Amino acid sequence: MNGDTIICNCNEIYKNEILKAIEEKGCKTVEDVGEATGAGTICGGCIDDIQEILDHALNNSK
Ligand code: FES
Repeated sequence: MNGDTIICNCNEIYKNEILKAIEEKGCKTVEDVGEATGAGTICGGCIDDIQEILDHALNNSK
């Protein structure tokens, strides 16, 4: 998955935007990311992908 991959089609949220929310806003859960970016708040179909990005990002920064 590249940074310019669209993760959330409903809101056109790119992976980069999700990573930015995790880094800059300290998002730790799918709900946090949803609040910060809107991703995952409409159909919910992208929630697994958001979780995967969170898992990666949070593990890498530990
Ligand atoms: S694809 Fe993200 S809420 Fe629908």
